[in-house]
Amino acid sequence: MIKQIAPSMMCCDFLDLKNQLEIFEKTKIEYLHIDVMDGSFVPNYTLGTDFVKKLHKSTNIPLDLHLMIDRPEDKIEWFELNENDIVSVHFESTNHLQRTLQRIKNKGAKAMVAINPATPVCMLEEVLDDIYGVLIMTVNPGYAGQKLIPSALEKISKTRKFLDEHGKTDILIEVDGNVSYENAKLMSEKGANIFVAGTSAIFCDNKLEKNIEKFREFIK
Ligand code: DX5
Ligand code: ZN
Repeated sequence: MIKQIAPSMMCCDFLDLKNQLEIFEKTKIEYLHIDVMDGSFVPNYTLGTDFVKKLHKSTNIPLDLHLMIDRPEDKIEWFELNENDIVSVHFESTNHLQRTLQRIKNKGAKAMVAINPATPVCMLEEVLDDIYGVLIMTVNPGYAGQKLIPSALEKISKTRKFLDEHGKTDILIEVDGNVSYENAKLMSEKGANIFVAGTSAIFCDNKLEKNIEKFREFIK
């Protein structure tokens, strides 16, 4: 079963970025999770297009872009994307989800749909042929340091069941928000494949390399 770690770059120590990227490479981190927020879809601003460009120049680790922005269909073009990158767009952020997913794939990246805590996975029924994965928000999007929404745990197993019942056993599940060591274990048992690791686990003190190794033990 695929179990991959995606450090949430909005939580990293920007004054120590080069060293942290070296640790990510040494510990074979699979993705770098980039939260892009527009102050409209979510009440916050974070990382943007220049940061994505600079990261592509600084490391070969694929990027996992999480677009918490309105009308993403108009903005996919703004991002420099590589073929192993993931781009997640929110179901709730566009009237043209299928077209948006198509645009991501036309740029050679993997397309995923993110769903907020109140959105059931069955809303994705008509785009299952277009997606590489589903990103389940286990907190309300916009800020690091929040607490898991209890119903989100069951939503992971419900999503896995829904996907399997539609013959989509290859579609992955990513979880994002308060993915602590203990929560990660529970999320993994319920079928999560990609784990957004932020202040709840790997960045919670300055022992990044040790924390990543510890985190891997919890998601095995
Ligand atoms: C939430 C962000 C996440 C995450 C950060 O909008 O997308 O990256 O919450 O990690 P935690 O929740 O562990 O601080
Ligand atoms: Zn995120």
